[in-house]
Amino acid sequence: MAEIVIVSDMAAAGELAADAILALVAQKPDAVLGLATGSTPLAVYRALAAKGADLSRVRGFALDEYVGLPPGHPESYRAVITRDVVEPLGLDPALVRVPGDRGPLETAGADYERAIIEAGGIDLQILGIGTDGHIGFNEPGSSFASLTRVKTLTAQTREDNARFFDSPADVPVHCITQGLGTIQRARHLVLLAFGEGKAAAIAAAVEGPITASSPGSAIQLHAHVSVLVDEAAASRLANVDYYRHAWANRLPWETL
Ligand code: GLP
Repeated sequence: MAEIVIVSDMAAAGELAADAILALVAQKPDAVLGLATGSTPLAVYRALAAKGADLSRVRGFALDEYVGLPPGHPESYRAVITRDVVEPLGLDPALVRVPGDRGPLETAGADYERAIIEAGGIDLQILGIGTDGHIGFNEPGSSFASLTRVKTLTAQTREDNARFFDSPADVPVHCITQGLGTIQRARHLVLLAFGEGKAAAIAAAVEGPITASSPGSAIQLHAHVSVLVDEAAASRLANVDYYRHAWANRLPWETL
């Protein structure tokens, strides 16, 4: 089962995730992080930046990217990762890849998978979740075996992400995303969600049936998952009392 931790707010979740990352980097200075974008993981990056650790050898693989934005577009995930992650954390930009960043789009997925394998795999993957249950940009119906590839965004996701663009029509139709199979291969998944709008997606991911209709439910197949949620995002979990009890009674050596 995933470790479900109900936190007071985003900042508390950010602290927990940042501590897990720092513990990893202390063991392995060139650790490989899976980097998510969106508003949710910002708490993690802020907490990490505040700790001021040397992360210059850390390698990163972004989870996903839009297809079709002009190079340098401020809402491309490359630009977001540079702004919110690489610069504040002092990562080496040469060690951070974004899907679709090299070569033709047709072969970009296979190239990205190869690069992840050559890096020795992702040690810790940060994840958010979409209101329709997507992780990365794996929309409902995505195969649990899927690897990095080009996908078509749902109307719901385009609508959710329209807030970052001048108009909803400006949100790209396509994306390139690590697959659910890629995500499964990461050694530790840290999924964060905040707010009432994510409650249904979190309940489906954590307690619902394992189904491609709910891509987040793929986490139930992974041996090491930490789900960090605030009260609102936890509000539709049936076993919430147990999750609180288990976290309150964790053993001294148990971390995320
Ligand atoms: C986007 C990203 C996802 C992210 C999701 C939720 O579609 N591709 O990786 O998890 O949105 O975003 P937010 O954290 O802003 O709610």
